[in-house]
Amino acid sequence: IFAILVALAGGYLSGSIPFGLLLTRAAGLGDIRSIGSGNIGATNVLRTGNKWLAALTLLLDALKGLVPVVIGKAFGLEAALAAGLGAFVGHLYPVWLGFRGGKGVATFAGISLGYSWTVLLPFAVGWLVTAFATRYSSLAALVGVAVTTLTLFLVGQTALGWLYVLLTALVVFKHRTNIARLRAGTESRIGQKG
Ligand code: G3P
Repeated sequence: IFAILVALAGGYLSGSIPFGLLLTRAAGLGDIRSIGSGNIGATNVLRTGNKWLAALTLLLDALKGLVPVVIGKAFGLEAALAAGLGAFVGHLYPVWLGFRGGKGVATFAGISLGYSWTVLLPFAVGWLVTAFATRYSSLAALVGVAVTTLTLFLVGQTALGWLYVLLTALVVFKHRTNIARLRAGTESRIGQKG
């Protein structure tokens, strides 16, 4: 139980680092929360027009999920699951930003790679196919997380599967305004301002 609590807390601390906010601020681009969708993630950093900063946000937001999971794995499956959950919740609800964090997509990818490249694969395929077909980052994320969770149950990875049910529910909840915009046909496409 001690290892699980440490994994949860360590994961949370790692996940709660708001790289998108810190990087855009350091680059003198102002507060990312007053740009585009107001989100602190890579998709919204891209709306500043700075592709490299968006790529760096994606990478670091993924790493902050990957690192705790890899460390947690050394202490067993339960610690790895707790580390992943902690990192994810940390990104979505960082105490430093009044619990108003990101939507979890890059961190989801990093956590998945932390478990195995075979967990990242269905997410990457689902995300890329949807993104190329529709240019909607949010829809790509929703399809990606759903496909990943389904795949985990299909291959019998049930423990991880249940964690992913929770992660997917959180991703959907965090994308509720995106879902409303998708339904209304007003969602902005990748790289578009607004
Ligand atoms: O990665 C987050 C993406 O799914 C939506 O971002 O900024 O369009 O709300 P945004």
